[in-house]
Amino acid sequence: MANILCIGAGYVGGSTMAVIAKHCPQHRIVVVDINEARIAAWQSDQLPIYEPGLDEVIRGTRGKNLFFSTEVNRHIAEADIIFVSVNTPTKTFGQGAGKAADLQYWEKTARQILENSTSPKIVVEKSTLPVRTAESMEYILNSNSNGLHFDIVSNPEFMAEGTAIRDMEKPDRVLIGGLESPSGQKAVQAIVDIYVQWVPRERIITTNLWSSELSKLAANAFLAQRISSINAISALCEKTEADVGEVAHAIGLDSRIGPHFLRASVGFGGSCFRKDILNLVYLCEYYGLDKVADYWEQVIKMNEHQQTRFVSNIVSSMFNTVAGKRIALFGAAFKANTSDTRDSPALAICRALLEERAEIVMTDPHALDNARANLGEAAKQVTFEPDPYAAAKDAYAVAILTEWSHFTKLDYEAIYTSMIKPAFIFDGRNILDHEKLHAMGFNVYAIGKPPLIHLP
Ligand code: UDX
Ligand code: UDX
Repeated sequence: MANILCIGAGYVGGSTMAVIAKHCPQHRIVVVDINEARIAAWQSDQLPIYEPGLDEVIRGTRGKNLFFSTEVNRHIAEADIIFVSVNTPTKTFGQGAGKAADLQYWEKTARQILENSTSPKIVVEKSTLPVRTAESMEYILNSNSNGLHFDIVSNPEFMAEGTAIRDMEKPDRVLIGGLESPSGQKAVQAIVDIYVQWVPRERIITTNLWSSELSKLAANAFLAQRISSINAISALCEKTEADVGEVAHAIGLDSRIGPHFLRASVGFGGSCFRKDILNLVYLCEYYGLDKVADYWEQVIKMNEHQQTRFVSNIVSSMFNTVAGKRIALFGAAFKANTSDTRDSPALAICRALLEERAEIVMTDPHALDNARANLGEAAKQVTFEPDPYAAAKDAYAVAILTEWSHFTKLDYEAIYTSMIKPAFIFDGRNILDHEKLHAMGFNVYAIGKPPLIHLP
């Protein structure tokens, strides 16, 4: 039996540990966090995050071999293996502001581990970190005077929100990076031994520490790059009467390209893509690779452009003004099946439309509380309405910003009847039946498709 601790009870820490607890009943797993309200929520029936399938895994493990606590120091002392999944946001101050990762929580956590340890431990980087962070952490941890040895292992998470449990249950691969030294390799094996309880051994790959750290940044950069690429093509489609869905299908059938992650949209969001690419850009600049940095930064610029373009399309098609017009935003979450609104394109579009003085009503099945919190001051100008029919009533336009399947099942005839005419619909996720909406009377604007309109 091993005592496993996870510091950081967020989306990553909570979901990962729940699945490990499920498959490793022989181990005792504790998840700690400095945020008392969050821990209380993990201990209750109202979990702090919405993630399909998570409730069930928690119900089966909590109180048996999975525990949540705020007593960080005590649990550090007891642990054999410590996963660290505290947040590493983009730095907002000093050198590297706006790009580099803010490592203060990570370093503070490393020092806290050091102060409270009386036995050797394996420390696992679960948070996404810049390449060579492990080196600094190893230095800090092994600089102690009491002769304790710490091994650092990198084990990046590749789970996507909304499918986190499925991604953890059946991962494409598990990546574990460690030092070449005998004790480094022993530490890697200890982490392999956890995952091998449910993941086929050939899907668990081991690398050196630096490859593991960089693979995580590179994987997210590649995924985001595909979205920016198809979004760039969508802009061209709108000018040429090509249909981006047909283009994505045609190119995705090439087995070298593949069909996934080619959905043109209002842009990518979430806590990872932007932050990780900025991290990569900063790293390249740090090593003097300016052209490489520019290349990756373009992925973010294209994403911002896609959002700007979407808002410009709304304003120009609605007779060049949305001031005082009620616009219903369908979706606040950065993607479907999550309550997370971090870096959500829906919020960026909301802010841009508020600047145009539109009257905004936002609806979402799970993310309205987070949207209200993330919008800050701007939230005061927004009406949050859980019922999409009420949100659309008396609106001039509906904009689909999150691909919730819930939005595809609504009665759009009823919505059309309740709206101000001419009624507009802007499908930023291409999830609706555009021909049908057009036949009902809507002026329909989708991403990367010719508009279907009744206007002169
Ligand atoms: C985050 C990042 O998004 C991801 O890129 C990174 O790899 C891991 O951290 P997530 O779990 O989604 O993932 O973050 P978040 O929900 O913010 O959870 C982090 C938790 O760490 C918070 O609950 C916070 O209270 C906690 N924390 C932070 C500590 O317990 N101690 C600290 O010193 C700092
Ligand atoms: C991502 C990575 O997929 C995951 O491996 C990593 O561990 C964390 O970051 P996540 O951000 O949770 O996961 O969700 P993801 O499914 O990757 O979607 C990110 C964004 O891209 C969302 O806003 C989504 O709507 C958008 N997206 C995705 C598109 O616009 N088009 C697509 O084809 C796919």
